[in-house]
Amino acid sequence: MAVKNRFNNIDSKEWLPFQKSWFVPTNTEQLYRSNIRFFTQANEENPEPSIFYAGSEADLFSAVAADEGRKTTFEPTSNLSFAVIDLRDKFQSLESYLSGLDGILATCQQLFETLQHRKFLCIHIANVYQPGFYPIAWHLAKSLQHLFSLKDEKIGCVQKGDELAGDEIFYSLYFRKDEKSEGIMRPAETELLRGGNTGFFESTIGHWQVVRPPRRKKNEILHPAKYPEALVEQFIKAFTAEGANVFDPMSGTGSTQVAALSCGRNGFGTELSPFFHEIAMERCQEMAFGTTLQFDIKLHNAKEVAQLDFPAIDYLITSPPYWDMLNMKGAEYQARRKEKGLQLNYSDDTNDLGNIADYQRFVDELIAVYKACDKILKPGAFVTIVVKNIKKKGSNYPFAWDLSQKLIAMGWELLPEFFWCQDDINLAPYGYGNTWVSNTFHQYCLNFRKRTGA
Ligand SMILES: C[S@@+](CC[C@H](N)C(=O)[O-])C[C@H]1O[C@@H](n2cnc3c(N)ncnc32)[C@H](O)[C@@H]1O
Repeated sequence: MAVKNRFNNIDSKEWLPFQKSWFVPTNTEQLYRSNIRFFTQANEENPEPSIFYAGSEADLFSAVAADEGRKTTFEPTSNLSFAVIDLRDKFQSLESYLSGLDGILATCQQLFETLQHRKFLCIHIANVYQPGFYPIAWHLAKSLQHLFSLKDEKIGCVQKGDELAGDEIFYSLYFRKDEKSEGIMRPAETELLRGGNTGFFESTIGHWQVVRPPRRKKNEILHPAKYPEALVEQFIKAFTAEGANVFDPMSGTGSTQVAALSCGRNGFGTELSPFFHEIAMERCQEMAFGTTLQFDIKLHNAKEVAQLDFPAIDYLITSPPYWDMLNMKGAEYQARRKEKGLQLNYSDDTNDLGNIADYQRFVDELIAVYKACDKILKPGAFVTIVVKNIKKKGSNYPFAWDLSQKLIAMGWELLPEFFWCQDDINLAPYGYGNTWVSNTFHQYCLNFRKRTGA
């Protein structure tokens, strides 16, 4: 008999797939039902749990809840087991979001008072693209992260046609009322996340894609966090013309330069680790053989790129260390890599950003790298940064959003995000029996543009 999860009384066939951090929703009924079943359970203590709902599908929600033996309330009454706010069709523009924001925050404040301890609030929300890109989902999450505890996010990938790629997304944001919640509402400043014009972007890239990289070659497996060339090639083709100069300040195994060369572009960059630098150079030599294309990866600290005599750059694509998470990986994972003779981290170098334990310092040092890169970028150059939001020791660090905020402040224009969705990794039963922790299988590809006047 299938084992039931004490957290929600559902079996692994149902709760394990729910833990994948991105999903292709079939319809709204299924979206509501899966959340109700994951986050509430009827038991002797609470035979008919109460769920708060706000959104435009009240009849549908209460019918699904009733079908599952749960009661729906449209007021933040006491003793709530779960709360769902569906804002997906509420805001079409930044203006409408800003005029509705105070009402939503007030409701959330009331929910904080009435939700039971360790119970969840889920908000479904899509970003807006009118009159320019504005990530209202990130803004709302940042505004509520000190009231509740920001626990997790899932990305709803809306599929158009048969291909595993689509041009619409929404966020399911998960907050919990718990011992880490500060109970303080601190609305984020609206200016800090204001994005730019999206016209060009929308017509070229879309918003999400499942990328299934081919099996990695022997020297590529040695790197703990490589991204697929197929993903990079797609961006390079959308953002540059043949012969353009592509750059990556943190080259790792040289995936960026290999992808650039394979698309008829030149590939430049820096890499701090001598070990990966050598692998990257070998891969580039092989790829450029017999062509007139140029490549150059310098063994150097990325913070100094402006002093290194690179040509002016048309496009930058990169992926930074995942904070110091490689140093944090479970002992078992590290033991397995060690046994296979694989690298456990990038290096022990103190300039390696993957060795900085303090989150703010890590983000600031990374900004210093991008500031240096800005000096070699041509005006109007596009930038793509591949990152994940980070969960560490039970807390959520919205790295992608924090980084974007600082880069906007630095002067880059924020363009719509794109998700690289992974489905070639096995799901792990994180939080089993106790709470909700997703397997983060979506990577943000954050997009920016250096202003033409800059
Ligand atoms: C996520 S990996 C990049 C992987 C690469 N995109 C690939 O596909 O192989 C980050 C890289 O940044 C490098 N790195 C960390 N700090 C650096 C610094 N200060 N300057 C240059 N490279 C650095 C690490 O050695 C690591 O290879």
